Amino acid sequence: MRKARVLIDRDFAIGHTDPRLFGAFIEHLGRCVYGGIYEPGHPTADEKGFRKDVLALVKELGPTLIRYPGGNFVSGYNWEDGVGPLAARPARLDLAWFSTEPNSFGTNEFMDWCRAADVAPMMAVNLGTRGGDAARSLVEYCNHPGGTAWSELRRKHGWDKPHDIKLWCLGNEMDGPWQMEHKSAAAYGAIASEAAKMMRWVDPTIELAACGSSGRNMPTFGQWEDTVLEHTFDHVDYVSLHTYLNNYRQDTASFLASPDLMDSFIEEVVALADAVAAKRRSNKRLMLSFDEWNVWYRTRRSRADRVKEGWPVAPPILEEIYTMEDALAFGGACISLLNHADRVKVACLAQLVNVIAPIMTETGGGAWRQTIFFPFAHMSRFGRGKVLRTQVESDSYDSSYYDPRGVQELTFPVSNVPYLKVAAVAGEGGGLSIFLLNRDLKRDMQVNVEARGFGRFAVSQAIELRHDDLHATNTKDTPERVKPAPLQEGTIEGGLLRAHLGPASWNVIHLSVH
Ligand code: AHR
Repeated sequence: MRKARVLIDRDFAIGHTDPRLFGAFIEHLGRCVYGGIYEPGHPTADEKGFRKDVLALVKELGPTLIRYPGGNFVSGYNWEDGVGPLAARPARLDLAWFSTEPNSFGTNEFMDWCRAADVAPMMAVNLGTRGGDAARSLVEYCNHPGGTAWSELRRKHGWDKPHDIKLWCLGNEMDGPWQMEHKSAAAYGAIASEAAKMMRWVDPTIELAACGSSGRNMPTFGQWEDTVLEHTFDHVDYVSLHTYLNNYRQDTASFLASPDLMDSFIEEVVALADAVAAKRRSNKRLMLSFDEWNVWYRTRRSRADRVKEGWPVAPPILEEIYTMEDALAFGGACISLLNHADRVKVACLAQLVNVIAPIMTETGGGAWRQTIFFPFAHMSRFGRGKVLRTQVESDSYDSSYYDPRGVQELTFPVSNVPYLKVAAVAGEGGGLSIFLLNRDLKRDMQVNVEARGFGRFAVSQAIELRHDDLHATNTKDTPERVKPAPLQEGTIEGGLLRAHLGPASWNVIHLSVH
């Protein structure tokens, strides 16, 4: 049995979690929209065509914010195609995913869906094939009350009140050669700052995120942020970053170490943003929008593969089936996000339904939870409040992580990986939640947690997600093979919390404080 010790002090805080840290993402991609959240004719569909079985699972999952409509899709999207009478909406070739986009779901339907799901929107504008003019028109269409051509058009379309969308992405992954009208950092910086300026002139209350790097392994990482932020620093509030974790090499220990590289990535982007501030002698601090993160590697497809399939509508692509092992790496990523709550204010799990998603559906059939559903739901439910610093004493291991994303194939060292990865959040209601990932694949772990400054506490909930088979999955036929269970061994002894964690396990302990 391994032993570990965690020390927490109520007064030593990292920062408060922004409610938008618990976001997710809906892209016009595969069956995320069509057959996912929207399926007129489905037995559970409401009058707007929204699947109520999916809405119920979304509410259980607990996302607070949804990024839309892409992703790579947005870089070729004409938002005007997705508004107005359905019969008049054009079908278009989508060059991001080699699909046909019917445009029967667009901005207004998305906003209605957000209201039904009780989530806030994060809207991305097309800075690939389009630019500042289309972006400022979209802000006017969505947020201007009336009396102008675009705002009156929205009213004519049936949405009298402005949508009042507060958070906007200035394009998507513009550093990636796979992007439609991919740009150099200088070219993107110029277009993003001009678009931002005009969008804010239309609605000064909006917040804007500039595209940072689409992965830590991008050859331009660092230089990209520096140049883009030199252009956009005065016009934006956030810089974005994206990460997809993988286990291509079937090396579970490295896979579970890989969230620690998310910690490094976040800290590096903070340093890059603050270096731009320093050069300006500015005390403005840009915040981070981690607006795509997840595990994704099995269902990646080359452009050549996509072309072979023709131009289907809503094909079943990127339908990653998540394992128990994936849920552990995913839980590690949740802990990384929580532990950077001071600077990561927005984050979006990519994506929400069917496409690399926590929720799966059968078109015309049922819906179920994938393994990664549970750590996210726990993070959203127990992660609201003040994240505390954790002093962790745990054995550690060294590893290396293979990350072939982008145009480079790289292996990164990950050193001193503690077997125990932890986050602690003092909740607004006075309780304390502790998230514990045991990365030892074979051995149990005895963890002693000393929480100073809290007085007397009691275990009010202790949850474990674990399965003897790390490759276990939830499917249509076995939807509950992997699911949380009570963690039997969380006890308080002499003011210390003693928890007994199973090998390769994700655990959440919620303490009520007296
Ligand atoms: O989430 C899937 C894709 O991954 C997104 O469209 C893109 O932004 C990223 O490369």
